[in-house]
Amino acid sequence: MSKVAIIGGTGLTKLTNLTITGREVHVSKYGEPSAPLTRGLLVGKEVIFLPRHGAGHTIPPHKVNYRANITVLKNVGVEKVISINAVGGITTAMEAQRIVIPDQIIDYTWSRHHTFFDEGLNQVVHVDFTSPYCEELRQSIIAAARRDKLPIIDTATYAATQGPRLESAAEIDRFERDGCHIVGMTGMPEAALARERGLCYASIAVVVNKAAGRGKGVITMEEIEHNLVAGVDQVKRILEAVIPSL
Ligand code: HPA
Repeated sequence: MSKVAIIGGTGLTKLTNLTITGREVHVSKYGEPSAPLTRGLLVGKEVIFLPRHGAGHTIPPHKVNYRANITVLKNVGVEKVISINAVGGITTAMEAQRIVIPDQIIDYTWSRHHTFFDEGLNQVVHVDFTSPYCEELRQSIIAAARRDKLPIIDTATYAATQGPRLESAAEIDRFERDGCHIVGMTGMPEAALARERGLCYASIAVVVNKAAGRGKGVITMEEIEHNLVAGVDQVKRILEAVIPSL
């Protein structure tokens, strides 16, 4: 049985279906993670929960200490990480409230601490990132969702942007030309750092708005919050379906 962690995104600072068994403060050599680790039971299985934006949702995407988060999870023996990410939908299929399990990512972020392999090295390290998500975990999520008849889209390319502002319409056009289907601010460097530390990492993305220039007008926080509530509810059901199988 492998140790599983869930990194909660926007709209998921608390896992309401988690029976909490403990909270632990950890510090890493890269500094403090976003919050203490919450240990608990989800449908009877032990999981660790870490809210990416902090317990009070105060850490913006570009300020998240991704290296500290991945390090503390690794240090407590986590092997599998399910990341929850709110995203904008770029292509027409990516409607609000859709749940998407991405299989590719393009990194448009900048100036984030994006690697563990940058100092004190005996040798330069280049990790393979051909398939940025753990295919075994992705397939477990997809199979569990299908089994419970929870609708999902099982492939997509995630455009990781710097934020915290949303994109211009021209930026979204460019991402679509590049082959991206969804856009979010937290997919990178988290996925790459997980790979560097040998963690099996996959994402459940929830579409909370049409990306810039794809909807009727401007993107509002009301729209995002409305879709988050319904989307996160589906995410919780998928977690309940998949966690026992890991
Ligand atoms: N763009 C970037 N990140 C996001 C979006 C978006 O439209 N929606 C939710 N996170």
